[in-house]
Amino acid sequence: MAIKNKIQELRKKREEIQMGGGEKAIEKQVSMGKMTARDRIRTLLDEDSFQEYDMFVEHDVRDFDMGKKVLAGDGVIIGTGTIFGKPVCIFAQDFTVAGGSLGAMHSRKIVKIMEHALKMKMPLIGINDSGGARIQEGVNSLAGYGEIFFRNTISSGVIPQISVILGPCAGGAVYSPALTDFVFVVENISKMFITGPEVIKTVLGEEISMEDLGGAKVHSEITGNAHFYARSEKECFEQIKKLMTFIPRSNEHKVPAIEPKPPKTSYAIEDIVPDDPKLPYDVRDVIKSIVDDSDFFEIQEYWAANMVIGFGRMGGKTCGFVCNQPLVLAGVLDVDSSDKAARFIRYCDAFNIPIVTLVDLPGYLPGIDQEHAGVIRHGAKVLYAYSEATVPKLTVILRKAYGGGYIAMGSRHLRADFVFAWPTAEIAVMGPEGAANIIFRKEIMEAANPEEMRQQKVKEYKEKFANPYVAASRGYIDTVIEPSETRKILLHALEVATEKSVSLPYKKHGIPPF
Ligand code: HXC
Repeated sequence: MAIKNKIQELRKKREEIQMGGGEKAIEKQVSMGKMTARDRIRTLLDEDSFQEYDMFVEHDVRDFDMGKKVLAGDGVIIGTGTIFGKPVCIFAQDFTVAGGSLGAMHSRKIVKIMEHALKMKMPLIGINDSGGARIQEGVNSLAGYGEIFFRNTISSGVIPQISVILGPCAGGAVYSPALTDFVFVVENISKMFITGPEVIKTVLGEEISMEDLGGAKVHSEITGNAHFYARSEKECFEQIKKLMTFIPRSNEHKVPAIEPKPPKTSYAIEDIVPDDPKLPYDVRDVIKSIVDDSDFFEIQEYWAANMVIGFGRMGGKTCGFVCNQPLVLAGVLDVDSSDKAARFIRYCDAFNIPIVTLVDLPGYLPGIDQEHAGVIRHGAKVLYAYSEATVPKLTVILRKAYGGGYIAMGSRHLRADFVFAWPTAEIAVMGPEGAANIIFRKEIMEAANPEEMRQQKVKEYKEKFANPYVAASRGYIDTVIEPSETRKILLHALEVATEKSVSLPYKKHGIPPF
């Protein structure tokens, strides 16, 4: 009998805690189009797979009347579960409990699940929905953030870390997501900023909405802080689930291969690149022509769109794709696209994912804006990331590969294992027009018809250099292939590179141009 009573008591306690901040607060949460923290976990994880820990944790703060406040689970839910059968660690801040604000015990719970994730080699998923540091707890809240940032950093490159912004994420709180691998945002729901509108109004006298300051669109299109944008929480969870199928459990695990499927495009790959080299095309059409099932999972789709990055499978195994996008700014490397590519290359390298690079770019973007924005420093990140990566690196030059762009985009000189070129490739120090104007300036100026002479010199230069055969004659590219042979030759290259092993000189760590 006694045990029955004890069980009843336990159930009652659980039910009370599961009500979070109470009916009114839950109603407010739902009226804002947001799920509750528990619903979010339930929706994301496999059915009945969630095991919660630290449900009974309580704060011990007595200042500011806090002694009277019971905060269910101290405003955060932590636990383990599975996604498609793969184990994950998860925390979800509960905005219905003191605005999901982070106090000492709240942070201790997050740290506990982070430590489990690192120790047991599981991905960590953090759902952020919080008013930030719990004001009543002062420096203890700040200490909590510091502990989280430290663990984000030491876990980086060991286990995948995913941040989901499903409400406010303000002040220093933004730095935990910023330290993680992938940040997911949802239209109208996600808000990320260092300083909120009220402070901005006080300090700068400017009125700005939360949405314009740091809404989902801002971080997906302008800042590049977010990697995935969804229109609803449900869509966001589907995106997370899909990502989980492409990435390994940790840097010691391989992504389980799935049944390979051929691409299913309705167009011919050789028809993608237009005859006129000045015309753009969508590099994603090339990717879809070579990946399994034409299934390409793009990352940071709306930011620095002149670079396309994402995951696809070749022969059932995950590959990371790093591709210039001729459709946007002719696919140039600039400050943002360099950052985008470099970070993704390092991600793939850390988690043993082979990198496939598709090249078509006129080079680094010239101009005072880019120079002053630090295109030298940012552009160097691409060189660094490719050079340092030891995973299999396969490159296909589709069309233009000019100047620094040729070197930066996974060239042989940065230790690509295999470099192939389509017959449409143009590999040269710069584009024919620019080159002819410089090296034949005198002849053009002195000609009876300068324009005719210019055209003739451009043609001469094109015939001599704007092709793949000069680079092939030096062995800088391994072979010139027909576009339709691309998938087959990449599959073969991936197969032979499976056991690739290279070692770099000993160092504590390098000093990349951060
Ligand atoms: C304690 C907080 C809180 C906080 C919200 N609440 N934020 N309690 N500390 N930081 C409480 C509210 O008092 C309220 O409690 C409940 O949560 C819901 O908040 P509302 O304001 O009613 O919600 P809403 O109108 O939706 O506004 C959400 C909000 C706003 C925009 C996030 O609450 C807000 O501006 N909060 C403060 C944000 C902030 O400046 N945080 C500190 C950042 S500094 P009751 O009891 O009324 O339900 C920081 C430093 C970290 O984080 C540094 C790390 C290095």
